[in-house]
Amino acid sequence: MINIIAAIDKNFGIGYQNKLLFWLPNDLKRFKMLTTGHTIIMGRKTFESLPKGALPNRRNIVLSSNSDLNYPDTEIFSSLQEALTHCSANEQIYIIGGASVYKQALPIADTLCLTEVNANASKVDAYFPVIDKEIWHEKSRETHLADEKHPCSYSFVTYIRR
Ligand SMILES: NC(=O)c1ccc[n+]([C@@H]2O[C@H](COP(=O)([O-])OP(=O)(O)OC[C@H]3O[C@@H](n4cnc5c(N)ncnc54)[C@H](OP(=O)(O)O)[C@@H]3O)[C@@H](O)[C@H]2O)c1
Repeated sequence: MINIIAAIDKNFGIGYQNKLLFWLPNDLKRFKMLTTGHTIIMGRKTFESLPKGALPNRRNIVLSSNSDLNYPDTEIFSSLQEALTHCSANEQIYIIGGASVYKQALPIADTLCLTEVNANASKVDAYFPVIDKEIWHEKSRETHLADEKHPCSYSFVTYIRR
């Protein structure tokens, strides 16, 4: 099972200067809840943006063309396909970004676990690919209003392949 997990703004923006666009504690909690105990696959730049390196209690896979890379508690593969061939059939795989890896994974993913943030980030240089609604069916949507910890409203939306 290949799941994509991402937080996107109203224009599909996901990042700026290798940082996330928003700080939403409930989104981080949901990310941790969904991915813990499973396999996460990410691009080298996204890995480098993690403050403490590999995320605990998950199998961390990093994609890079540089086979000399050696990060603690991670496995490095030189393509998404190679990484997937090293995963077992019953493994829950979460593609956690960034833009380049989302683009490669979208055609083969089974589900999209998106946090749709109801905001237009002012500075964006990384985007999620366009979601074709002819292909992706909205299975569930849970909307949360802005509060003291969350500057804008946001929705946890799950899409499945039609
Ligand atoms: N909003 C969200 O949910 C979310 C989540 C994650 C990331 N982001 C954001 O996304 C942005 C980063 O995205 P990005 O596209 O610039 O970088 P990225 O996808 O994180 O990493 C790109 C790098 O990954 C490696 N890579 C990707 N595909 C590969 C392949 N098929 N084979 C070998 N190596 C491969 C390459 O590393 P080498 O150069 O080492 O070869 C490439 O330079 C940041 O702004 C980040 O904050 C947002």
